[in-house]
Amino acid sequence: MFSLALLTLLPLVAAQSAQNLPLEIAAIKAHFNQSGLVPSLLPTFEPSALMTINFPEVGDLKPGQSITQAQSGPTPTISFTPANSSVKLDGNFTIFLVDADIPGSTEKNVNRHWLVNGVTVQDNKLSNSSATAITSYAGPGPAEGSGPHRYVAILYPQPAEFVAPADFREPLGVNAMDLQQYVLDSKLGPVFAANYMIVEVGTATVTPSSTAPVITSTLTPANPTGSGGSGSGSGSGTSKGSTPSNAASQLTVGGSAFLAFLSSVLIIA
Ligand SMILES: *[C@@H]1O[C@H](CO)[C@@H](O)[C@H](O)[C@H]1NC(C)=O
Ligand SMILES: *[C@@H]1O[C@H](CO)[C@@H](O)[C@H](O)[C@H]1NC(C)=O
Ligand SMILES: *[C@@H]1O[C@H](CO)[C@@H](O)[C@H](O)[C@H]1NC(C)=O
Ligand SMILES: *[C@@H]1O[C@H](CO)[C@@H](O)[C@H](O)[C@H]1NC(C)=O
Repeated sequence: MFSLALLTLLPLVAAQSAQNLPLEIAAIKAHFNQSGLVPSLLPTFEPSALMTINFPEVGDLKPGQSITQAQSGPTPTISFTPANSSVKLDGNFTIFLVDADIPGSTEKNVNRHWLVNGVTVQDNKLSNSSATAITSYAGPGPAEGSGPHRYVAILYPQPAEFVAPADFREPLGVNAMDLQQYVLDSKLGPVFAANYMIVEVGTATVTPSSTAPVITSTLTPANPTGSGGSGSGSGSGTSKGSTPSNAASQLTVGGSAFLAFLSSVLIIA
């Protein structure tokens, strides 16, 4: 897993400063691509906002950060930074947390760990004061040895005429579901924002697909055009990754404990 490209690691990716927002939007898109979440879980991903997942014991997570099962147990605080100040955060949304399994998984169904309809964004934070929980937050519980699971939080805008699909109107526990079928059936808008974390229990007895590092110094910052919220629909962002030419700063994705190790140590080979 080590490569020449991993020689230096600068702890810059967690920074959430407004001036880096276009770069951070480009980086989260690259993480979703390079961890295989696009296209295996989401056919496309053009976020209108940056999503930050925060757990009390860990603070704000970096994209794809590895945390322990215990750390991911409490309901996280989810906050948003619109890609463009004219992006509206009003209207109703649906929040999901799904277990997209290990990189390389081709399972169509994913385990649902959180599904709440009618959440809103208040002061840039997810609010559930008038929401309907179908599946209340249930922290990750990957089988021991089953490898580094990607747990993905996704916020979709609900259309004004939103009606939950027939099989999702009563409280349900954690179970497998077809995410894209739900999105079609309930006419949710394009993904508004998403982020993910990695939780692994025990020593893997499976080998996840390898994931390419995200090299932020080579990303083209996302164009700050955007719309979304209020079920209005259209996604945004036109950035593309470019060919890596400089490995001054980067973050690996999908590497389980390796990632936590990397983010705390400067490696000189
Ligand atoms: C998406 O990820 C694949 C696999 O790592 C990589 O080959 C491709 O260049 C990436 N595309 C973009 C636009 O980043
Ligand atoms: C709202 O969030 C609180 C705190 O996380 C939780 O206890 C409550 O069950 C949630 N309500 C709904 C409807 O999801
Ligand atoms: C949001 O949901 C509430 C409760 O279902 C509903 O009364 C309200 O009209 C919805 N707002 C929008 C903008 O769709
Ligand atoms: C922000 O989004 C609005 C609405 O989509 C667009 O008109 C505007 O040009 C965008 N602003 C920038 C700086 O791109």
